[in-house]
Amino acid sequence: MKSENPQNRNLRDIFGKFATGVCAISFYGKDKKPRGITVNSFASVSLNPPLTLWCIDNSSDVYEEIIDKDKYIFNFLSEDQLGIAKLLSMKSNHSLDGEEFIDHEFGLILKNSLGWIACSRKEIIPSGDHSIIIGNVDNFEILSKNKKPLLFWSGEFKNKIS
Ligand SMILES: Cc1cc2nc3c(=O)[nH]c(=O)nc-3n(C[C@H](O)[C@H](O)[C@H](O)COP(=O)(O)O)c2cc1C
Repeated sequence: MKSENPQNRNLRDIFGKFATGVCAISFYGKDKKPRGITVNSFASVSLNPPLTLWCIDNSSDVYEEIIDKDKYIFNFLSEDQLGIAKLLSMKSNHSLDGEEFIDHEFGLILKNSLGWIACSRKEIIPSGDHSIIIGNVDNFEILSKNKKPLLFWSGEFKNKIS
């Protein structure tokens, strides 16, 4: 088994000290099947024009599908969605079940999330072992004002930092 370079381990640890929310990117795969991946690299980039970004690992099994995709949705996950966050972060497990999403005119919307942003690809910038995907915001909706977010900190999912 290949062991991780200690410097990478330390870098992962310090990157992990930045607490984030968690989102699921959802999209239609090549076979038109509903697909998703758990990410925490979402960032808002610009209000005018409205732009977002996230980063995809160049070695991800969904890399090719994502790079070919013109449209995708950020679903901001609530604390109730730990199950789907874990599911969509498993290696080679990126299929979505019909009961988990709504087939919306802007794409696949996950039920029970805090809200969603529909984006179309603007630019992809290769950068180290990831690629930065910049997207135009096409539409968005807040689904719940009261639910709490799912968090990720120090390599673990949390519903609060304690
Ligand atoms: C909280 C969390 C955040 C993640 N963020 C990203 C991300 O921003 N970009 C990414 O490519 N993978 C990210 N991942 C990894 C993917 O969810 C998933 O583990 C990986 O895609 C599995 O390998 P595969 O794509 O080859 O199937 C994250 C995983 C977790 C648990």
